Amino acid sequence: MYKLIIDTDPGIDDSLAIQFALASKEFKILGLTTVFGNVNVDLSTINSLRLLQLANRGKIAVAKGASKPLKGKFLGGVPFVHGDDGQGNTWQPPGSLSPINTPADEFIIEQVFKFPKQITIAALGPLTNLASALSKRPQIQQMVKEIVFMGGNAFCPGNATPTAEANMFSDPDAADIVLGAKWPITMVGLDVTHKTILSKEILQKFSEIDSPLHNHITKAYQFYQDFFTRVNKIDGTYVHDTSVFTYLIDKNLYKTVHYPVRVETQDCLSKGKTWPSLGESDHEGSEVLMPWKNRPKINICVDVNSNKVIELIKNRLMK
Ligand code: BDR
Ligand code: CA
Repeated sequence: MYKLIIDTDPGIDDSLAIQFALASKEFKILGLTTVFGNVNVDLSTINSLRLLQLANRGKIAVAKGASKPLKGKFLGGVPFVHGDDGQGNTWQPPGSLSPINTPADEFIIEQVFKFPKQITIAALGPLTNLASALSKRPQIQQMVKEIVFMGGNAFCPGNATPTAEANMFSDPDAADIVLGAKWPITMVGLDVTHKTILSKEILQKFSEIDSPLHNHITKAYQFYQDFFTRVNKIDGTYVHDTSVFTYLIDKNLYKTVHYPVRVETQDCLSKGKTWPSLGESDHEGSEVLMPWKNRPKINICVDVNSNKVIELIKNRLMK
């Protein structure tokens, strides 16, 4: 069983991902750490607490995290994708749960020290909390079991911009730090999430289940679906954040390749683009490829058995 911390910015697909993780016995969720991203961090914290309350899992800790990227300002999120409240304009009342006093980066450090080599971090938003935890305690690199993050685009276009994926674009400096650290890390990016589509029919089936969480999430998903119908012209929604958990449950569903990756941090056309180095060596002595020198190879998901992933999601969420 994974001892899990979920770093998240709910976000409609974050909400489904959290619902999926809560429904999966493979995960013991130690806490949710929140970050700005789809919405500001206050809202992402309220939404996290609200989701746990709806699921009747209020004992899981929620630690509030970064309100802005390492450099620059929070740019206001993506209300056209997730609604002004990050939950498809369903405007759920805040509920009665509160975050713990420990900030997200400290919570991550505390748990990693408490359970050395046992903690898996599922990161579903900008990687600011992880970068900040790393800068406070670099030794966590050797102490975390595994990081799996949703983000990046290795061999395909972006979604926030033609070149970059949204989570990487939101804090490229943090992403470049986290992807350069010496911990086992897997990128579940658009290369696979754009191949995995949750159809309207399946969503309709979820909506027939009468639980407070199902009711809320399927309502929020109507808003998310409208975005994909309008912009991507698809009859369903891409499975972004939930793919982190389907990867963890069955790694054989994904094909991975291994390269060092840099993230473009400059304010330019490819800001936030994840660039794998496709060279054979670690580029010793190569001036041209110097920026990748001494960077660890990371796992990059490049292909997926999407039918099986959708089956897995269906089975877990039909309960
Ligand atoms: C990612 O960006 C956010 O909008 C989603 O929640 C997901 O984490 C997809 O690019
Ligand atoms: Ca997210």
